[in-house]
Amino acid sequence: MNLEPSHPKILPATPESIRLASDALRDGKLIGLPTETVYGLAARGDRPDSVAKIFAAKQRPATNPLILHVGDPDAVHPLVSMDSDITRRRFEAASSLWPGPLTLVLPRSESVLDCVTAGGGTVAVRVPSHPVALQLLREVSLPIAAPSANVSNYISPTRPEHVIDGLVDSVEWVLDGGNCDVGLESTVLSIADPKSPPTILREGVLSAAKLEAVFGEPVLSSSTTNMELLKSQSNAPAASPGLHRKHYSPRTPLRLVAATENVAPSNNGGNNKSRILRIRLRGPAVSLPGYADVWSLSPAGDPFEIANRLYDALRRADSGEFDLIEIDQMNVQEWSEAGNLNVLAAISDRLRRASNQDDSAT
Ligand code: TXA
Ligand code: MG
Repeated sequence: MNLEPSHPKILPATPESIRLASDALRDGKLIGLPTETVYGLAARGDRPDSVAKIFAAKQRPATNPLILHVGDPDAVHPLVSMDSDITRRRFEAASSLWPGPLTLVLPRSESVLDCVTAGGGTVAVRVPSHPVALQLLREVSLPIAAPSANVSNYISPTRPEHVIDGLVDSVEWVLDGGNCDVGLESTVLSIADPKSPPTILREGVLSAAKLEAVFGEPVLSSSTTNMELLKSQSNAPAASPGLHRKHYSPRTPLRLVAATENVAPSNNGGNNKSRILRIRLRGPAVSLPGYADVWSLSPAGDPFEIANRLYDALRRADSGEFDLIEIDQMNVQEWSEAGNLNVLAAISDRLRRASNQDDSAT
């Protein structure tokens, strides 16, 4: 059962606190919302003043649009405009994966606020599967705008304390939904253009194979397209505006190193006393020369476990105890036997962004 709350603003997710949170949302306040992917910073999405609070709290550029969350696929209809049969068919197919870690980008309806879409002609929508999120969304019965509940460019939150760490003064309450099951943000998939295949804009844990089975047609994805196409896309304008580099970064310098490197280079034989943390993606957490500590995200090498633990590990690594964080690079080819390519690509993508080594714009 629930232990003592670790912070007075963290509420155990009882029916009473869900009602409190629902009332606070209706009053235009911000709530920390547990979802199966990451915690969201929730506000009613139909009021410009509430949406403005999200942008202010996160210090998020107004050019980066928000996802609207609802408690039922039917509640998406008033938010989108589906003129084409192809789009309608794709929506019906994709919504069979809801509730779940999937965000769909569709042409917006007139009723959606410009501040939510950053002035664009599309809107991102999602029905999350976390039972607390579903209960709250169904109780409040309004479209709820919710980006990840971190200050812009910092690491997404996967525990209620993470929301408190960065946004304590902005949130009214954080509902305690425990550790997020998935631990990485949702797959963002665009079906806005009936003339293009469904296109993954942000990798998540959903596999392209699963999406293709649902749509009955190919899905465009950075992890399954060839390198030439990837290169040509890296010069294209950002399709998902939030996907620029320097996302998910700890403040402590972070380097990606080959998984086979077993000695910390900066401490190797010298008198440099910097404290270096090594985070291994898989294998045992045995001590290595030159490292102050060695952690392993998944001794068994399970990609879903790595995804689940990554952000909490990055936050703990960033507590000030270490001067440098070194993480195993993920070579997707080497790992391809270990799981679907998309979850591997999602982890690899977040690692590159955390290390600021990703300078592609998409
Ligand atoms: O798992 C998630 O998606 C979490 C939980 C809370 O639902 N939310 C989340 O939101 O990660 P946020 O705002 O941190 O990331 C949303 C991403 C951004 O990259 C944003 O640019 C993109 O979705 N996005 C939002 N609206 C879009 C649109 N209309 N077209 C293309 N990309 C869009
Ligand atoms: Mg985010």
